[in-house]
Amino acid sequence: MTQYQQCCEQLQRQPKMWLITGVAGFIGSNLLETLLKLNQHVVGLDNFSTGFQHNLDEVQASVLPEQWENFKFIQGDIRSLEDCRTACANVDYVLHQAALGSVPRSIADPIATNASNIDGFLNMLVAAKEAKVQNFVYAASSSTYGDHPALPKQEPNIGNPLSPYAVTKYVNELYANVFQRCYGFNSIGLRYFNIFGKRQTPEGAYAAVIPKWTAAMIQNQPVYINGDGSTSRDFNYIDNAVQANVLAATTENTAALNQIYNVAVGGRTDLNQLFAMLTDTLAKNHVNYTQTAIYRDFRAGDVRHSQADISKIATLLGYVPAFDIAQGIEQAMPWYVQHLKHTAQ
Ligand SMILES: NC(=O)c1ccc[n+]([C@@H]2O[C@H](COP(=O)([O-])OP(=O)(O)OC[C@H]3O[C@@H](n4cnc5c(N)ncnc54)[C@H](O)[C@@H]3O)[C@@H](O)[C@H]2O)c1
Repeated sequence: MTQYQQCCEQLQRQPKMWLITGVAGFIGSNLLETLLKLNQHVVGLDNFSTGFQHNLDEVQASVLPEQWENFKFIQGDIRSLEDCRTACANVDYVLHQAALGSVPRSIADPIATNASNIDGFLNMLVAAKEAKVQNFVYAASSSTYGDHPALPKQEPNIGNPLSPYAVTKYVNELYANVFQRCYGFNSIGLRYFNIFGKRQTPEGAYAAVIPKWTAAMIQNQPVYINGDGSTSRDFNYIDNAVQANVLAATTENTAALNQIYNVAVGGRTDLNQLFAMLTDTLAKNHVNYTQTAIYRDFRAGDVRHSQADISKIATLLGYVPAFDIAQGIEQAMPWYVQHLKHTAQ
């Protein structure tokens, strides 16, 4: 039995109270679904800035009515300390996901990104410390590696940030570290590498590549590749990220606390390979996309290559990714085909 399976069994025997910020978003709603299915009690906080009520409705439809009763939703904003305090009351574990994602969004509006990602983060740290939560797990980002050239990425070796978004995510790590030093407050930062899966929105200018391309292909629209297609990423299926959160929150290994971890598969897929994978998997789901991709300029602020070394999270938290990229795309595709037929591009 894996450490994750043991951890899930223990949680079912002794349910905990969790707070998920950003619960109406992609990662937050998937965390919610898993925790409710494990009969946990969950408080969710979201201001619907990039999240959706329909994500919560979908979770409700996927769990038992009595499990849904274990969920309390607060429509609120992490930029308000009072909202954070209300949300943190009586909570054992915080999974802090709320933030404005996207590198290009942060370049277009750095002030908005800063307000949610730094001011909001600090409010959450203060509220969680006051509420004496047992562990505070937060969404960090692979963008923190910035211009450091080494591959695969190892946690201590970071370069200069390449976007306002990357600055905010690095500042989160610095604040978390200082809260440990100054107040003895425990936290764990999870540097996500390109997470994908159901409920990740394909809509808007700041959509992530997998849902954006998949929606375009399902609707027989053109697919645009930024650059020559050699840009590479360590794409990671959502269930692996959920596993990392649950392991991090519940860890009893004191050496694992107050650390930053890569959350990825440890693979590397370039955009040309990704396009081919999506085309093949769509065909298996009876969607035949016959157009060739259109190449255009590289995008400002993007890291050219990204691949994680996941040995630290494997050793200290017992994380074992259950899905590689191909398996993740196969898992996600039926949902995409069902849900992305009519989305705006
Ligand atoms: N998806 C990825 O590949 C990826 C990679 C690296 C880091 N991350 C980080 O993971 C977290 C979750 O990302 P996601 O992909 O689920 O994005 P998402 O946009 O789907 O979810 C973010 C959620 O936070 C909410 N939110 C934003 N600002 C808020 C505020 N001020 N108050 C309350 N709620 C607010 C949004 O409404 C949304 O529901 C973010 O912190 C993001 O930066 C994601």
